[in-house]
Amino acid sequence: MTIIIADKSHTIHAQTICEAIEAAAQVRGTGIAKRSVDYIISKMETHNAVIALEGSTFAGFCYIETWSHDKFVANSGLIVHPDFRNQGLAKKIKNVVFEHSRAKYPLAKIFSITTGLAVMKLNTDLGYKPVTFSELTDEPSFWKGCQTCKNYDVLQRTSQSMCLCTGMLYDPNSKSETVSGKVKDKTFLRLKSIKQSLFLKKHKK
Ligand SMILES: CC(C)(COP(=O)(O)OP(=O)(O)OC[C@H]1O[C@@H](n2cnc3c(N)ncnc32)[C@H](O)[C@@H]1OP(=O)(O)O)[C@@H](O)C(=O)NCCC(=O)NCCS
Repeated sequence: MTIIIADKSHTIHAQTICEAIEAAAQVRGTGIAKRSVDYIISKMETHNAVIALEGSTFAGFCYIETWSHDKFVANSGLIVHPDFRNQGLAKKIKNVVFEHSRAKYPLAKIFSITTGLAVMKLNTDLGYKPVTFSELTDEPSFWKGCQTCKNYDVLQRTSQSMCLCTGMLYDPNSKSETVSGKVKDKTFLRLKSIKQSLFLKKHKK
């Protein structure tokens, strides 16, 4: 398996990546938003993406976005092809994209919004902390990116103050150490289930 910073030579995989993201976005609760082929290509061409390849086969992907004049960096669109899941690949991709983000934007706060326990675990291992959305970028174009998520109605109903996703932030100025040991899975699962019962049940009525 090769995990590298993507460049122009990887644009042949952009369509496959979009299809994989689109399939994952159909599942309510995933919290991943669709992206166009052109958008994925632009991330590759500007070296703001990481791709995992098994030979010449696409296995996984993640990209970097910058917001608020590079004050914030988001590592978004993490996707592992179903054939390569549960083998530690997302963890490796997240590590590479995190190190790349730190090297390229050393002063930026790095954030992620996710509903997935897997991503919450990975973020926690990297030193991210859960935060309210008010701690993240207020740039409208970032939140506009949520429009293609199945849960966008929830974000609108709360005037963008909360959603099923949990905001997580790595602050390079924070003195706290990277969390070691087991992540409190139960806490995250409980938070997720509280949010789902608050937002989704009411909406169904
Ligand atoms: C989420 C996703 C990227 C995980 O990829 P993966 O390669 O299977 O993940 P890994 O094997 O690296 O697992 C990383 C950690 O998450 C855990 N994990 C993986 N899938 C999980 C799941 N469905 N539920 C709970 N934990 C999970 C693993 O046990 C591992 O934890 P550990 O380090 O404590 O052992 C993949 O399932 C996917 O592409 N899903 C659809 C798109 C998506 O949801 N993207 C995230 C958007 S924010």
